[in-house]
Amino acid sequence: MRRLFAVLLVAILGVTGLSSPAQARDKHRVSYDNYSITLDGKRVLLQAAEFHYFRLPSPDLWRDVLEKYRAAGFNAVSIYFNWAYHSPKDGVYDFTGVRDVERLLRTAEEVGLYVIARPGPYINAETTGGGFPAWLKRVPGRARTSAPGYTRAYRDWLNHINPIIARHQVTRGTGSVLLYNVENEYQANTDAQYMEDLQTKAREDGITVPITTNVCCDAGDWASTWGSGQGAVQIPGVDDYPQSFDCANADTVWGPWGEGVTERIRADAPGFAAEYQSGAIDLNDAGYDKCRELTGPAYMKYFHKNNLIESGATAFNYYMGFGGTNWGWLAQPNDVYTSYDYGAAITEARQLTAKYDEFKRQNYFLRALTPLTKTDAVAGPASSNPALLAKTRTNPDTGTQFVLLRHTDRAALTDDSGTLDWATPDGRFAVPVRLIGRDAKVLVAGYDLGGQRLAWSTSEIMTHEAIAGRDVAVLYGTEGTAGATTLRYSSKPRVTVLDGSVSSTFDNGNLTLGYTHRGLARVLITGGGRRPALLLIGTDATAATFWRADTSAGPVLVRGTSLLRSASVSRGLLSLRADTTEATPVELFGQFGRVVVNGRPLSGRATSSGSVVGVLPGPERVTLPALRGWTSRTEGYEAQPGFDDSAWKVADAGLASDDYGFHSGAVWYRGRFTATGTETTIDTNAITGRRGTYLVWLNGRFLGSAAGGVEADAEAPQNPDPGPGHFAVPAGALKPGARAVVSVLVENMGNNDDWTVDDNRFRQPRGLIRASVGDTPVTWRIQGAQGGEDLVDPARGPLNTGGLYGERHGWTLPGRLDWPAANPAVKPGVTWFRTGFTLDLPRKQDTSVVLRFPGTPPAGQRIQLFLNGWNLGHYGGSIGPQTDFVLPAGVLLEHGANTLALAVVADQPGTIAPPELVTAGTQRGGVTVTPVTGR
Ligand code: GAL
Repeated sequence: MRRLFAVLLVAILGVTGLSSPAQARDKHRVSYDNYSITLDGKRVLLQAAEFHYFRLPSPDLWRDVLEKYRAAGFNAVSIYFNWAYHSPKDGVYDFTGVRDVERLLRTAEEVGLYVIARPGPYINAETTGGGFPAWLKRVPGRARTSAPGYTRAYRDWLNHINPIIARHQVTRGTGSVLLYNVENEYQANTDAQYMEDLQTKAREDGITVPITTNVCCDAGDWASTWGSGQGAVQIPGVDDYPQSFDCANADTVWGPWGEGVTERIRADAPGFAAEYQSGAIDLNDAGYDKCRELTGPAYMKYFHKNNLIESGATAFNYYMGFGGTNWGWLAQPNDVYTSYDYGAAITEARQLTAKYDEFKRQNYFLRALTPLTKTDAVAGPASSNPALLAKTRTNPDTGTQFVLLRHTDRAALTDDSGTLDWATPDGRFAVPVRLIGRDAKVLVAGYDLGGQRLAWSTSEIMTHEAIAGRDVAVLYGTEGTAGATTLRYSSKPRVTVLDGSVSSTFDNGNLTLGYTHRGLARVLITGGGRRPALLLIGTDATAATFWRADTSAGPVLVRGTSLLRSASVSRGLLSLRADTTEATPVELFGQFGRVVVNGRPLSGRATSSGSVVGVLPGPERVTLPALRGWTSRTEGYEAQPGFDDSAWKVADAGLASDDYGFHSGAVWYRGRFTATGTETTIDTNAITGRRGTYLVWLNGRFLGSAAGGVEADAEAPQNPDPGPGHFAVPAGALKPGARAVVSVLVENMGNNDDWTVDDNRFRQPRGLIRASVGDTPVTWRIQGAQGGEDLVDPARGPLNTGGLYGERHGWTLPGRLDWPAANPAVKPGVTWFRTGFTLDLPRKQDTSVVLRFPGTPPAGQRIQLFLNGWNLGHYGGSIGPQTDFVLPAGVLLEHGANTLALAVVADQPGTIAPPELVTAGTQRGGVTVTPVTGR
């Protein structure tokens, strides 16, 4: 009954906009129409990038990344909440330490970002189980449907996460959550009741912001069924990955998966690109630099701008802004390895890239040009050259036009010029344009640029700010190309070219400036019946040197720092928090007296541009210690026949490890039998997920290894046996009537996802699924991570460790162990290496440290690396191409003693090539990082 009431209430609300009790408490109102989302009636252009807190186990660094988002001009962050990350066991949840999402939401609000909250329950995201906790595999009832078992389980998750999200909604006045996303690419489209139930539950739990979902693949289908009716969300969004994930062919790929134009599912809601590609998973092991190239500035210019004008969407979320690390056993192993760098604008080591600059140029434009929040498609200017297309949208209230200039043939690489016959709100103009290759530009006409009137420009606008009674605008264009800008004045203004070469004519109220985009030209315009204007006309590169921030005394523009984190003005004192990668000149535009940067006074001098220039120091040199003093120890006790396994669980209900509460990493099996002497092979089959392996011993003798499989497909008889292994029993090894022990070490890599809403895939077991020694009966015991689902180390959590002997005995943990000096030779089995190093990195400086293995990842060795007990990655030839492993500050003690432990699982004899510490970047500035705690 209660549910029926809630359903009715939601239905009524959807139709009439009546207030619910929850809404009655709301201090702010989020609404929307077909153009855009509104907050208290004000239109918002939502520009988000995706961030996964669970891929950065250092809460202080969340602030670092979110400040970088904000500085790039994003006004929102989209966040998946990962059920598996918080729940080791049915009914057990943890939201503390690196899992403190309350703190995350607070940080987002403090930084000034809206949040798109995406609690699933299913999230995909290339994370183990697609976010489903491993224990869910044992809960009956098809996942992602209304099946009762699954419903009970997911409601418990939502009971925990929804109230946290609800507390941080914009509507409450106590947070910045602006949208709530149910499910993820639910393209199976099978259970409308389930989609409806998720929304009812959210409303019951106090979610009052609009509800969205991200639709994949065939939005058309979805529109015809759930665009309205049961299960429909208020603002459906669409996922687009036009560049595919073919990073290996980054230099030739151009939109194999389509134009990337966000489809509209509901006519009464704004267009929403719920996930728009900005990076890629590295399916071909090409390395993430190639993924960054695949989705680099050229792609961003064309696809983002094309989508903006073709779709008229006003809400975007770029996947990913920062990818992070699949630390521990977080990865869904079939598609990704440890690094989830993603080729994103901000690297896994938190460094800014050329993609970041392109985001900044585009985002600042979207923020400044508010008429973009309400546009209709209209016929645009005619182009004299059919190779050039000019698609146009206009704001019906202001008349402002946005003209997308691109090649008609989207693959064209030619350099074409032409003239636009452009009927702007300020008159008709013949405007010369030029476009090189796959570039795309959004040109603006009929725009009130602060106190100026822009008739049109062939430069793109990055931003404009009202500073100290004048308009300061940053325009830019392709280096070396001609540009022109026409502004309207009632009388001839005075034009002073402060820098560069700019011509000007005044005719019939039109001031036209002509120039070539090169360096940074500066033009001061005074008189003409308007307040003064300073035009800063640059190239892509010089435009990217600008940063903007708001203060209580108006906006500031800062040029020259490598990042601007925040700015504030108090009693004329401008305080900046900014990073520098080197000693650098800096230029500031704003209304202020004195200046401090990172707490230190800046001595500056005034310029003819009305700015202040000074010099900022760079970072101190960083020297990292060499890693010396390695010690080592071999384990593999479990392979020995005399090992005491009496405390192990008896595996009498099948061999799958999940059934015994062992969900992550290594599991050991020991099978005892009385030999007949006729056994010739040990036949095994294991499912580990891609990149997994298992090793087999008989009476302590190593027999060999095999690759674990991904899935046994009951419906595909050709693959009942995904990870087969056949091991010959050495002659004479089994005497008739003698007791014998077969030991198997299985390295599970994580669970399959459930992208296709296919229980058979998600529920695939892990560990041995079959093992036989001829026809001889064997009794099995199993051992995995210490405590199983009852975590012994809740701070590091359910995905940090597996069941290696060393993991169970604290060999991963900080401190000294009395081991002998390392022998670099490894034999098949498990060998541990440990060393310590002390750091005292420069303070007030952000140094990103990476552990680098030399050469290419070795075949035959798989190495887990633990820093101070935190499992930060998996290295090896059968795992992936990765050689550099990010050691995030917080886990890495920047001022103290660190312990590094390597667990090497080898399936052949070899030698360890020890890794070294290297710097992935260092900047003066950064955020203060406190150590994360563990056991
Ligand atoms: C989408 C999905 C995301 C992520 C992405 C690829 O289909 O919604 O969670 O998996 O693909 O990285």
